[in-house]
Amino acid sequence: MTRTTSTLRRTVAGVPLALLLALGAVSCDRNDNDLPLIAGGDAERGRAVIKKYGCNTCHTISGVAGADGLVGPPLTGIAQRMYIGGVARNTPENMVAWIQNPKQFDSKTAMPNVGVTHRDAVDIASYLYTLK
Ligand code: HEC
Repeated sequence: MTRTTSTLRRTVAGVPLALLLALGAVSCDRNDNDLPLIAGGDAERGRAVIKKYGCNTCHTISGVAGADGLVGPPLTGIAQRMYIGGVARNTPENMVAWIQNPKQFDSKTAMPNVGVTHRDAVDIASYLYTLK
């Protein structure tokens, strides 16, 4: 009984490990130009709501008319950047979280929390990932 259980446990534990290794191999081979778009995100809608939050007053964002701010870094090419704000790995999850509340990653960042809803943050992140 005990032996069966531990064999089973070993087998079950082995599956995620193999999966993780496989995923690791995939992500190592990943071309950074192919950063995943966010599931469910609507990039076109994201582009449209960027101005509602005033991102354009601080950032230069290609494809958004009047987004020529110079307070923060240009977001053109953000899809290829390794880090967000120099502190968080550039993953879709971190991008959404940064847009909603950058100070959770860096309490001293000059980027304010502008009250972006989760839905809007997902859509904006989807748009930003089209900027290569
Ligand atoms: C008051 C000015 C201001 C506003 C408004 C603003 N940001 Fe920022 N943003 C900054 C600054 C400054 C940084 C650099 C922060 C840092 O490195 O700590 C930044 C950084 C970023 C980064 C990381 C860029 C990089 O190269 O690592 C992203 C992405 C970003 N902002 C997106 C947005 C979005 C989307 C909005 C609108 C929802 C927005 N920002 C609104 C000032 C602003």
